[in-house]
Amino acid sequence: MSSVEVCKLVDVPNPGALAVVAEGVPVAVVRDGDGGLHALRDICSHADVALSEGEVDGCTLECWLHGSRFDLRTGQPSGPPATKSVPVYAVRVDGEGDDAVVLVDVTVNAARH
Ligand code: FES
Repeated sequence: MSSVEVCKLVDVPNPGALAVVAEGVPVAVVRDGDGGLHALRDICSHADVALSEGEVDGCTLECWLHGSRFDLRTGQPSGPPATKSVPVYAVRVDGEGDDAVVLVDVTVNAARH
């Protein structure tokens, strides 16, 4: 494990996504509005655009360009045009309140199927 601090928890919209970089990898840190925190590779599997600029709806993140919805737990798209999943990374919170920070490990695929 090599978790790195990427942002403060309070900086992530809830629900919503924040673009960060962890060890050179673009990552979308996502809060689902229902207590869930997720980290996905911040590149759509269909084209080279940032998923963090899309809309969070429940446990999905919708790509803003063509509308594929990616499951925040598995990285799988629920429909076209994307057909491949995006990596889901291990994410955790350290600390409490306004001082809580988000740590991401891009070496661990945390997809839950
Ligand atoms: S670029 Fe994301 S669905 Fe096309």
